[in-house]
Amino acid sequence: MGSGTGLQNKRVVILGGSSGIGLAVAELAASQGANVVIASSGAERVQKAIESIGGEAQGQSVDVSKERDVATLFTKLGVFDHLVFTAGDSLHLRDLATTDLGQARRAFELRYWSALAAVKYGSPHIRKGGSIVLTTGVAGLRPQKGWVVAASVCGTIEALTRALAVELAPIRVNAVSPGVVRTNLWQSMSAADREHLYESVGNSLPVGRVGEPYDIAQAYLFLMQEGFSTGQTVVVDGGTVLV
Ligand SMILES: NC(=O)c1ccc[n+]([C@@H]2O[C@H](COP(=O)([O-])OP(=O)(O)OC[C@H]3O[C@@H](n4cnc5c(N)ncnc54)[C@H](OP(=O)(O)O)[C@@H]3O)[C@@H](O)[C@H]2O)c1
Repeated sequence: MGSGTGLQNKRVVILGGSSGIGLAVAELAASQGANVVIASSGAERVQKAIESIGGEAQGQSVDVSKERDVATLFTKLGVFDHLVFTAGDSLHLRDLATTDLGQARRAFELRYWSALAAVKYGSPHIRKGGSIVLTTGVAGLRPQKGWVVAASVCGTIEALTRALAVELAPIRVNAVSPGVVRTNLWQSMSAADREHLYESVGNSLPVGRVGEPYDIAQAYLFLMQEGFSTGQTVVVDGGTVLV
């Protein structure tokens, strides 16, 4: 087997690992023998997630939009094998005509600038054979009306992934691009609107349902372990790009 394979005793750092897709990655990696470290901004959420992951999981409460805190986090953590970035906040979806450009700029803050900071300060600590997996979204490939800014962020992450794969080689850098997934990301919607979204999107897809966090987590596990892909974006979208 290649040097990049297997997660047994590998140290995996997941920024945004206290909820949704990141938490599922943490649980799945821990179940395969990885030593998992999660970080997110809510101390209580981090604590709850550590209990749910179990085993030797560790957690840090860090707001990854603060560059200095990201730098401090990685100095404190020391060496590790795989960096996963899944931190994300609620999306502001608007028609272009009513888009506030200040708010549009802020949409890049967490998903792009914080991801870049995480890679800048985290990558020097990655051991030989390690990797980075970022997160984008299928809106970059298949935007809906009202998704101009969100789709732009997704496209940026895909370009960032390719550029980092060249810049940081031999560290492998890849991204996962989910379709709609049932997570807290949609919590700013009312429960009724949210269920309506899941049902209508799910019914429109070839697979007949929206994603669950564990569907998506498996792509991160694949990219960490397989050892030969770099600069790639793996789409896990239930067939969104086909309809
Ligand atoms: N769910 C979907 O339908 C979907 C589709 C396509 C792409 N994605 C992308 O997938 C990624 C993960 O989203 P998710 O669906 O798993 O959402 P989620 O369940 O809301 O998880 C987001 C995570 O990010 C953390 N976070 C938010 N702000 C942070 C900050 N400033 N510093 C550190 N951590 C922060 C949250 O924890 P705290 O609140 O404790 O900070 C939480 O752990 C996002 O980039 C999202 O855009 C999701």
